[in-house]
Amino acid sequence: MQHFLDIADLSADELSDLLDLATRLKTEWLGRGNLPLLSGKVLGMVFQKPSLRTRVSFEVGMLHLGGQALYLSPDEIGLGKRESIADVARVLSRYVQGIMARVFAHDHVLELARYATVPVINGLSDYNHPCQALADMLTIQERHKRIKGLKIAYVGDGNNVATSLLMAASKLGAHFAIATPPDYALQASVIARAGEFAQESGGQISVTTDPGTAAEDADVIYTDTWTSMGKEAEAERRRLAFPPYQVNRALVERAHPDCIVMHCLPAHRGEEITDEVADGPHSALFDQAENRMHAQKAVLVRLMAD
Ligand code: CP
Ligand code: NVA
Repeated sequence: MQHFLDIADLSADELSDLLDLATRLKTEWLGRGNLPLLSGKVLGMVFQKPSLRTRVSFEVGMLHLGGQALYLSPDEIGLGKRESIADVARVLSRYVQGIMARVFAHDHVLELARYATVPVINGLSDYNHPCQALADMLTIQERHKRIKGLKIAYVGDGNNVATSLLMAASKLGAHFAIATPPDYALQASVIARAGEFAQESGGQISVTTDPGTAAEDADVIYTDTWTSMGKEAEAERRRLAFPPYQVNRALVERAHPDCIVMHCLPAHRGEEITDEVADGPHSALFDQAENRMHAQKAVLVRLMAD
């Protein structure tokens, strides 16, 4: 593993290995703390979009491992505006031992990786969010003690979070059922790619526009905001299309009684998820947020430790 850009780039074994390492690092951290595996190392964090979880979990994760992180705000770097992406990658590589980037265009994180001489981690692009999916798989594994064979229902926008979750579920042999409004489906090419992974792992993919069908007997119900960062101009139109896709008590009652409810956060309570469900007994929302840190520490160790 040279970079961490897309779950689709990892083999199922690499993905399982990262989950095992994340579990080990989490147990260690909650016990006596982690070894300073990244002592003297610095992670440069380039942000084109806002963040709470990604910024704080990477920064704190680096501290736990004896390293440091630098927050570089959208105004400071001007990725591709003040300076070419290739030059930003070349310059940062002379100062830091790893780069984490949150970008709009997915090509921009790929270009950073092409020109950097240090590992690059994708902290979300308009196309995908692999760190989130890794943390989500860790959360599912903790709560259900397995991933293979589970039904993971994603209800809402066919967006970056849905894409990475689909890739991870397909690699690990889960049944991924997605319900989106007709105009907000996942790209056919993404489904086709995941279909190949599912064939190999024994997983399954179902696509529908009916949230109840997706949620039926599900072990996990997952949702995300109706309007992702960068799509704010479409918010009004989206607010009309998405209300039938709200994760509320009626939808959760369609699922398996032990079902967990997940959301990458930030949540727009009262839109894609009700308070009752977000704060209810099925909710795994804040475990997911915590697990961002544990999962990413595994990525940092695999990419940056000597
Ligand atoms: N889930 C997630 O990536 O949150 P942030 O946008 O706050 O980083
Ligand atoms: N789909 C959301 C995820 C935020 C973590 C967005 O891109 O804004």
